[in-house]
Order: sequence, then structure tokens, then C-alpha cells
Amino acid sequence: MRLLTGPGRPKRVFDRLAPRYDWINARIYKREWLDRVRRAIRGERVLDVGVGTGFTTNHLTRAVGIDLSMEMLRRARYRGHLVQADLMDPPFRGPTFETVVFAGSFYYMPSAAEGLRIAAELLESRGRVVILSPATFLLSPFVPIYTMQDYREFSDRAGLRLLSYERLNWAACLVIAEKP
Ligand SMILES: C[S@@+](CC[C@H](N)C(=O)[O-])C[C@H]1O[C@@H](n2cnc3c(N)ncnc32)[C@H](O)[C@@H]1O
Repeated sequence: MRLLTGPGRPKRVFDRLAPRYDWINARIYKREWLDRVRRAIRGERVLDVGVGTGFTTNHLTRAVGIDLSMEMLRRARYRGHLVQADLMDPPFRGPTFETVVFAGSFYYMPSAAEGLRIAAELLESRGRVVILSPATFLLSPFVPIYTMQDYREFSDRAGLRLLSYERLNWAACLVIAEKP
């Protein structure tokens, strides 16, 4: 069992962390990662999974941010729509979005393969999934760390094509997959 994952744990952790989240995030998050994620986004109808306090997509008026944690959402500054929801049981049906973003949230999904399959179902044809995740096994006591091969397998199973896997530095990677 990892320290930050498991049934009910992400919600509990982020409800507690919410008052200090922006302060912590500012110290560990590299500004250039935000630019890279934003540049990878296609279209305006964007689903931000684990939107948190809105950091990644708060510039998009047509984005929808979902999060398990009401305490994170209460602190969000966001121009789009915010919904308390779990990606694993989404309040949307069918191909609705041009991009689904997981910025620091993919590894909290109880099943990565199923999480990506659900995201793919919500994507329009030619839509993309953009994932910013940790890439160092030093963090594996806390959250699962996936390799490029793992992302390829998850993408194949979800009917997506892995476009790129890029290490941003020793700790993080950016993954982009597309729906044919
Ligand atoms: C590390 S924070 C990232 C927040 C934001 N994306 C950012 O970059 O600042 C991860 C967020 O994912 C949310 N989360 C985890 N599992 C989720 C799920 N299954 N569905 C929706 N949100 C989830 C957590 O509640 C938390 O707010």
C-alpha cells in the first residue's frame, strides 16, 4: 500500500492539504511545466481531472474542472466550471471534450488503465489526453510511478495512440496520447 493512494485516501489527503496546497505547490512545481502542459492542450472544451485549486486550466473559460476534494474546489480560482466528481464515475457521457488533462492526478486513479479508458470515452475523435506525472521511482513509496511502456500499454488498452512521453527533468514527465 502506498502512502497517498488507496480507497478514500486521495480525498482525505487533499481535504486536509487544501489550506496549504498553493503554498506547497509553488515550492515544488516548476513554472515551465505549466507552460508545457498548457501548450499541449488542444481546443477549448477541456476536462481538467483533479483540478485542485485551478492552477493548470484557470485561464480557460470553457474548461470543466472536476475534483474529489470539496476543500480544494472551495479554494479554486477558476473561470470555467467546477464540479465535485470522481473521474472513475464521471458525471458526463460520450465524446464531449477536446482535451482531458491530468496534471498531478493520474497516479491517484485506483486503476490507471481504467482511468485512461474512461478519459478516452469522454474524448472526441482527434482529442488528446495530457498527463503531467512524477517519473522517479524515489517517489514510489507515495504514489505509483509509470514508465513509458506502462503509458503505452494503458493507451493501447484505451484505444489511444501514445504521441509522446518526455522527461521534463529527473522528477517529472509529460505524456500525450491521442484518440484516432
Ligand atoms: C496534486 S493535486 C493536483 C491539482 C492541480 N491539477 C494542480 O496541478 O495544481 C491532485 C488532485 O487530484 C484530485 N483527485 C485524485 N483522484 C481523483 C479522481 N479519481 N477524480 C477527481 N479528482 C481526483 C485530488 O483530490 C487533488 O485535488
